[in-house]
Parts: sequence; structure tokens; C-alpha cells
Amino acid sequence: MSERLPIDVGINGRPQHLDVAAHHTLLEVLRDQLGLTGSKECCVVGECGACTVIVDGRTVNSCLMLAVEADGHDIRTVEGLARGPELSELQQAFLDRGATQCGFCIPGQLMSAEALLERNADPTVDEIHEALAGNLCRCAAYEQITDAVLAAAEARHR
Ligand code: FES
Ligand code: FES
Repeated sequence: MSERLPIDVGINGRPQHLDVAAHHTLLEVLRDQLGLTGSKECCVVGECGACTVIVDGRTVNSCLMLAVEADGHDIRTVEGLARGPELSELQQAFLDRGATQCGFCIPGQLMSAEALLERNADPTVDEIHEALAGNLCRCAAYEQITDAVLAAAEARHR
């Protein structure tokens, strides 16, 4: 039987005490233990960004982080973006601009964009490209995704 270890984490603003397998990644714990399946499992080697979450304000590929390394940290997943039944400006902008095609990459794109907008309220196109460079989109909706991030930044200024 694999060793299990206790961790205390914040998940989307809620404190959680969890027992996790020592070898499990944060992505596995989010999806399989907590049922937060918004973060996607794809390459699992840090190449695609589909598993991106925000840890203490910084984007992290959750497939590369052991769950035990998250002990004491605040984690935000795509499930934490909406405010109750309302989509966030960023989510709404992705819908309005047609950035969501098959949708598989979108949770990761949203989390990278959210982290960008929190540290830079008025990003340039180049800054958006740089911030989302680790998020691949098989549907090649890059133009719409960039437009959506620009639109969300504008909406947040209103
Ligand atoms: S699944 Fe984590 S980077 Fe691809
Ligand atoms: S919308 Fe299909 S992979 Fe990005």
C-alpha cells in the first residue's frame, strides 16, 4: 500500500484537510479525489498546459506538482472563476469571442489568462501571447483567445 500523507490546502478559497498518496500529483488529487475535473489531463509532462491551475497567484502545471508539495498553499482551479451562477468577465469573453472550440484546452487557457490579468490589468497582445505560451490549443483558436483576454481586460475597467 502506498504511503499517505496529510496536507492542508486552500481550494478555491476553502480550507481543506486531505490525506493524499505520496506519489500522486496535484492534478490527480484535484480530479480523482476532489472531483474537480475542470483541470484537464492531457500530456502529463508539462507540455500542453491543459492542467494549469493557480498556486499562490502563479500558474502551475498541476501534472508536474506533487499534491504533498501543495501543503500550506492556496490553489485556484477553473471551478473557482465563476461567481455563483454568473460567469466571470473572462469566461464570458471567451464565450462571446468564440474562443471556446472543442473546449479541452480552455480551463488551462482561462487560468493562465486570469493570472495574467491579476498581475497586469492592461496587457498588450505580446504580453498575452507570452503569458499563454504554455497553453496549446489543438483547435488553433489563438486569435480568438487573445481577443477574449483583451475584451476581458477592457470589461474589468468598466
Ligand atoms: S497535462 Fe499538464 S502540461 Fe499537459
Ligand atoms: S479549443 Fe480545442 S484545443 Fe483549444
